[in-house]
Amino acid sequence: MTDDALNLLAAEADDPVEVAIEGSLRPRSLAEYIGQREVKANLGVLLSAARARDEAADHVLLYGPPGLGKTTLATIIARELGVNVRYTSGPAIERPGDLAAVLTSLDERDVLFIDEIHRLNHAVEEILYPAMEDYALDVMIGKGPSARSLRLTLKPFTVVGATTRAGRISSPLRDRFGATYRLDFYAERELTEIVERSARILGVEIDGGAALAIAKRGRGTPRIVNRLLKRVRDHSEVHGDGRVTEAVAREAMRLLEIDDEGLDSTDRKLLAAIVQKFGSGPVGVAALAAVLSEEVETIEDVYEPFLLRLGFLDRTPQGRIATDLARTHLSDLGFEIPPPRRSEPEMPSLWADEPGVGDR
Ligand SMILES: Nc1ncnc2c1ncn2[C@@H]1O[C@H](COP(=O)(O)OP(=O)(O)O)[C@@H](O)[C@H]1O
Ligand SMILES: [Mg+2]
Repeated sequence: MTDDALNLLAAEADDPVEVAIEGSLRPRSLAEYIGQREVKANLGVLLSAARARDEAADHVLLYGPPGLGKTTLATIIARELGVNVRYTSGPAIERPGDLAAVLTSLDERDVLFIDEIHRLNHAVEEILYPAMEDYALDVMIGKGPSARSLRLTLKPFTVVGATTRAGRISSPLRDRFGATYRLDFYAERELTEIVERSARILGVEIDGGAALAIAKRGRGTPRIVNRLLKRVRDHSEVHGDGRVTEAVAREAMRLLEIDDEGLDSTDRKLLAAIVQKFGSGPVGVAALAAVLSEEVETIEDVYEPFLLRLGFLDRTPQGRIATDLARTHLSDLGFEIPPPRRSEPEMPSLWADEPGVGDR
């Protein structure tokens, strides 16, 4: 079960069938892209301006938690500009020469999508600066005292960079993007729309209650609602007549150990560890990572943003704190809740209308 849950949150699908399905569900135009209204509006202006000037579009940096639609947007940008897109990623470009090869192969105004751009190494980044700024490539010829640098001109192109957090990339690199857009978690209504759209594409018969039940447990994330939809469909084919009703959806998600807030077993383990092992916090992320046998980066990028958003977790300079909301949620699920170590009254989120503390 835990493996299933982990798969739901995995950044990239590993199974080729999953990859194909994920591709088939990708919106192909800005108009088809659901939600993110502000980003879409601003991006629409940027793209129209580039088309009107008959130039390559400004470089665009997209940031936000996994599964919110960064790769999809990069593809849409290229499509709307009527150009090709090349996909690469920070870790894939090992040496400056690798990047030079990609850059020289681009056609005029093409889009170069660099996923996980915060993981570019320094030597590669140095090549990228003049390329982005002046469409220039500085190459070294020869070695030792006779070495000299030669400047090659590149065709104008657009970099679309993606990262989970803008703060991760160096400021010289950040400065070279003409526009930076933050993708945020999707509202329930938008996720419901995404579930219904995906169901139409996959030919799944689903009722409104089921679509909403999936949306509610989708952690504000299109990739996760799409994966949940597929699991729920499988369940309905095996245990029912293939139609997805709310009862079938709920039962399938219960078997996947997704609770009513959309948390999976790792989320609950993370919160339970803070509550039970660290007196509800504050506790440093490294200690949490050790207890859960997870990477610090995975906890920070995959798990924490949504728990912060729910108001279940607080980040303080002293470390992570499980809030009273989280304690109540765990207690409702039957977890044992020892009293918090900290004594001062706190957690204004209990009284606020809107829980949810941003991850800024
Ligand atoms: N705005 C959206 N509307 C509809 N589906 C979306 C949207 N954003 C993302 N998706 C779906 O979610 C999946 C994951 O999106 P992706 O662009 O790969 O996320 P990221 O690159 O941010 O991790 C895609 O398969 C796509 O079908
Ligand atoms: Mg992506």
